[in-house]
Amino acid sequence: MSLNTINPTETNAWQKLRTHFSEIEFQSIKDLFEKDAKRAATFHIEWNDFYVDFSKNNWTKETLSLLIELANEVGLQEAISNYFSGEKINETEDRAVLHTALRANENDTILFEGKNVIPEIFATKNKIKNFTNYIISGEAKGYSGKAFTDVVNIGIGGSDLGPAMVVDALQFYKNNLKTHFISNVDGDHVQEILKKINPETTLFVIVSKTFTTQETLTNSETIKKWFLKSATEKDIAKHFVAVSSNLQNVTNFGIAPENIFPMWDWVGGRFSLWSAVGLTISLAVGYDNFNQLLKGANKMDTHFKTTPFENNIPVVLALLSIWHNNFFGAETEALIPYTQYLQKLAPYLQQSNMESNGKSIARNGFPVNYQTGTIVWGEPGSNSQHAFFQLIHQGTKLIPTDFIGFVQPLHEEKDHHNKLMSNFFAQTEALLKGKSKEEVLSEFISQGKTETEVSHLIPFKIFQGDKPTNTILIEKLTPESLGALIAMYEHKIFVQGIIWNIYSYDQWGVELGKQLANSILTEIENSAVKKHDSSTTQLINKFLKK
Ligand code: F6P
Repeated sequence: MSLNTINPTETNAWQKLRTHFSEIEFQSIKDLFEKDAKRAATFHIEWNDFYVDFSKNNWTKETLSLLIELANEVGLQEAISNYFSGEKINETEDRAVLHTALRANENDTILFEGKNVIPEIFATKNKIKNFTNYIISGEAKGYSGKAFTDVVNIGIGGSDLGPAMVVDALQFYKNNLKTHFISNVDGDHVQEILKKINPETTLFVIVSKTFTTQETLTNSETIKKWFLKSATEKDIAKHFVAVSSNLQNVTNFGIAPENIFPMWDWVGGRFSLWSAVGLTISLAVGYDNFNQLLKGANKMDTHFKTTPFENNIPVVLALLSIWHNNFFGAETEALIPYTQYLQKLAPYLQQSNMESNGKSIARNGFPVNYQTGTIVWGEPGSNSQHAFFQLIHQGTKLIPTDFIGFVQPLHEEKDHHNKLMSNFFAQTEALLKGKSKEEVLSEFISQGKTETEVSHLIPFKIFQGDKPTNTILIEKLTPESLGALIAMYEHKIFVQGIIWNIYSYDQWGVELGKQLANSILTEIENSAVKKHDSSTTQLINKFLKK
């Protein structure tokens, strides 16, 4: 069944939210805490080893219930069941959106066009498992008889960001295989990786759902040429595998059919790390850990599917984000993991959020008349405190921020972890509390200064506070908790797309640049610049004079 097309701003709930917003827009979050000693108890959800605190935001129980009314009015529950049951909710591409099936249980039945997809998913998982064990154990040998030491993942967008983020996040669980990622068509990227590897002991995993992506094909051809300088065509079968749904193009590239890991049309690129696109993850951390990642995501899927909206973590996160985006006018959201392991989480979520919800046409084909797609950015704490936190604390923009932290560190560095986590807690407290004029003055006075001496400095030292934050505190960074965390954000994106009445699973906006790049490439190769705007013509001519 197709998704309905309801303009959220024309719902009764939206009108009520508008009135409610005008009543509470200027209320202070600090005051909400002062008035209600149980606020933290009211606004948090505990689920498995996740503790999510939503209390440090300018909203009340009434806000939440009006936002839930909005979700009900746009048919969120029905949309969730369409999403999980393989309906073609990606209507502009006539595709289902079934990445959740990739982490389902073996005894589940998920029908796509009348056929249960679970057996083929498990057959592929088995192939991933066997191949992973074959490589890790050293049983597999390269063309000169040596075991593999390095794996190079060649892919871009969803065929790179997910595996690269997870491999980095789970490096604590990593085996001896060294992993590298080549994505950019920039030749300097590929050359820098080639400097680090030996063709005799390197496995290349080419990941491309379409196997038509310029960057991935160019990098793969360059690598193949480099490989063939020391090996022969028949050695390709030992060193190159591919993950793709385009068997014809992969075979044309020279990869043996048994070295192809399938991908399905119903898995979107940016949600594909759970499929064979995650092969490099499995090779890096072992199949069992890869499977734990899937298990964590599956648990979050169940939570999302079955929990009433008010206790449903992805739903509440999405509603709060809509509250900030569409009512407070927040333009961006920051995401600060207090672990260096999650340094690639923000770039990963940039693709999944911004490629999904960066849309301006509603599901009825007409332009939306409200804001959609949040801009997501961030860096790990505490580094980011020394970089851009100044603007979050004292700048003019409202930046709702997610803080993600872990109770236990992975290494026994108690002193470091206590310091890290004291910063984690201190930042959300500081963003909430701020610092008043009186507090600034009394600090000066305690340093022996007089009010006259310091009055000109006081305005600069005041922190307004009342900055919205969510705190996501997880017991420990494990493959399972990481899987749940990623799935949590995936479902948040889904809920937002449903409420914003847009199609979250296409990405037509990336096509125009690709088309123009192809025709400009021909012009560059032939040194014959065609008609462009005067700026583009002048720039290409400048480049051609190099
Ligand atoms: O950027 C557009 C896009 O289609 C992404 O959605 C996708 O993840 C990426 O390109 C790579 O595509 P493929 O896996 O087909 O090479």
